[in-house]
Amino acid sequence: TADPADLLALAADTAREAGAVAADGQAGIGVLDTKSSPTDVVTAMDRAVEELIRKRLLAARPGDAVLGEEGGAAAGESAVRWIVDPIDGTVNYLYGREDWAVSIAAEADGEVVAGVVAVPARGDVYTAVLGGGAFCNGEPIAAAPAVPLDLALVATGFGYSSERRAHQAEVLRQVLPRVRDIRRGGAAAVDLCGVARGRCNAYYERGLNPWDWAAASLIAQEAGARVGGLNGAPAGPDLFIAAPGDLFGELHDLLEPLGADTDG
Ligand code: IPD
Repeated sequence: TADPADLLALAADTAREAGAVAADGQAGIGVLDTKSSPTDVVTAMDRAVEELIRKRLLAARPGDAVLGEEGGAAAGESAVRWIVDPIDGTVNYLYGREDWAVSIAAEADGEVVAGVVAVPARGDVYTAVLGGGAFCNGEPIAAAPAVPLDLALVATGFGYSSERRAHQAEVLRQVLPRVRDIRRGGAAAVDLCGVARGRCNAYYERGLNPWDWAAASLIAQEAGARVGGLNGAPAGPDLFIAAPGDLFGELHDLLEPLGADTDG
């Protein structure tokens, strides 16, 4: 079996290289294609960067499986599967904004054991190994201590279908009056690293995919945040909540009766 520290080192080198390539290509980038809806865009760089990442990972570890946002699933015969988002926050990337990230997680026997989120435009590389704490640029990071919900800065995000967004707006209408403020940063991985670093108190979103959260969820948990869904369900596509201590429960109890894990 692979040493998580070795998997992290490979993921970090690869994410740094991929992040530099993407940063070089950001100016003048345009929409290449759309996916689930006209707002769900793909740039040439999403595809090129994912190809680069797959090439690097499989050159170093040819037997591994890979799941990527753009390239889908490729089977392998080892116990390791890489989960890759070449550019999380594609819309930010398209508009020349800073909050987009390269996200690479390594799963061993179905459990994420190492994760890297590189945010090139901010010069930040977040890393974590299961049980080893969370870091930004090599310095330990920690989630902010839990605050009451009305003092919490809460990050969230929206899906790409207008039906889902209509319900997400309804949920948000109930959340906004109850919290310090809301942030919609535009990249789930960066939002989760924000929780890990105390740049916001909590995060919730419905409809994420594994590549959005795999690496950043480990980073947030290793930084002391609790991660989960509603009523004991694991965090996942239905609903993803991340917050430290009692704030998790307060946010959970606000979201549960609103049907935040449904499309209304
Ligand atoms: C999206 C971003 C966004 C979140 C969406 C994701 P993408 O990922 O993380 O913040 O609200 O749910 O799909 O499409 O930019 O990789």
